[in-house]
Amino acid sequence: MMNSLDELFSLRGRIGIVTGASSGLGVECARALAIAGADVALAARRGDRLGPLADAIAREYGVRAIGVQCDITVDADLDRLVAEVRERLGVADILVNNAGISPTGRAETLSREIWDGALATNLSAPMMLAQRVARGLIEKGRPGRIINMSSIYGTVASSIYRLSAYVATKAALVNLTRQLAVEWAQHGILVNAIAPGWIPTEATEAGMAKSQNRDRMERATPLGRLGLPEELRGAVIYLAGPASSYVTGTVIAVDGGYVAW
Ligand SMILES: NC(=O)c1ccc[n+]([C@@H]2O[C@H](COP(=O)([O-])OP(=O)(O)OC[C@H]3O[C@@H](n4cnc5c(N)ncnc54)[C@H](OP(=O)(O)O)[C@@H]3O)[C@@H](O)[C@H]2O)c1
Repeated sequence: MMNSLDELFSLRGRIGIVTGASSGLGVECARALAIAGADVALAARRGDRLGPLADAIAREYGVRAIGVQCDITVDADLDRLVAEVRERLGVADILVNNAGISPTGRAETLSREIWDGALATNLSAPMMLAQRVARGLIEKGRPGRIINMSSIYGTVASSIYRLSAYVATKAALVNLTRQLAVEWAQHGILVNAIAPGWIPTEATEAGMAKSQNRDRMERATPLGRLGLPEELRGAVIYLAGPASSYVTGTVIAVDGGYVAW
C-alpha cells in the first residue's frame, strides 16, 4: 500500500543516470532524482561542468552524486559510463535519456552529416544506453525505470524552426519508448517519455532571443508562457518512483498545453 507521500514518491536507495546533465533540463532531472533521495550520476561531454554540479547536488540534497564525462554517441563511452556508475554508486536502476541536440536547417538542403548526427545523439544513443542499463537489471532480476526526453516535436511539426532531423528523432523516440516498454514489461522495467514544450535553456535561448519567436511560442501555448526548467521535476519524480508503478509506454507532456489544441 502506498499510504504516504514518502511511499508514493521516495527514491531512497535508488541509483539514477542522467545524460546531458551538464546544462539545461538534464541538471533539473538530476536534481529531481536527488530531491526524492536517489543517488545520481551526471553524464555529458563537458566533464569540467559535471564535478561542481554533482558536488552541489550532493551537498544540497544529502545524496551521493558523481560526474562521468562521456560522449553518448560512442559505444565504448556508454560501456564505461555504466561500469563506472556500477563501481562508484551501484547498479543503476533509473535512466533518464535526456541528452539531445536540435540542429536547424532547411529540409531541402540539410546535409547527411547533420541528419546522421541528430539520429546518433537523439535516437541511437538513448537506445544503446537503455539496452546496457536494462541488461544489467535483467541479469540481476531487478526492476527499473527508463525515462526518455522527447518533445512537443515528437507529436507536431515546428512552424517556427526548420527542424526536420530533430522532429524525426523525437517522434521515433516516442515509439521506441513504447516498444521498449512492451519488451521489458516482463522484467519490471517501466519505460516512459516526457515531452517538454518551450523551456529556456542553452539550446533554446538563442532562438528565443528573437522577441518575435518568443511571442509566437507564448501565443501558441495555452498557458500563455514558456516553461521553467524546474517545472520538469514533478514528471521525473513521478515516472521514476513508486507512484507510477502501473504506468509504462506512455508520454507525459509538460508543455503548458502546447499540443492540446
Ligand atoms: N529546452 C526545451 O525547450 C526543450 C523542449 C523539448 C525537449 N527538449 C529536450 O530536452 C533535452 C535537453 O535539452 P536542453 O534544452 O536542456 O538543451 P541543452 O542545455 O543544450 O542540453 C543538452 C545536453 O545534452 C548534452 N549532450 C549533447 N550531445 C551529447 C553527447 N554526444 N554526449 C553526451 N552528452 C551530450 C549536452 O552536454 P555536453 O555538451 O556537455 O555533452 C547538454 O548537457 C534534449 O533532448 C532536448 O531535445 C528541450
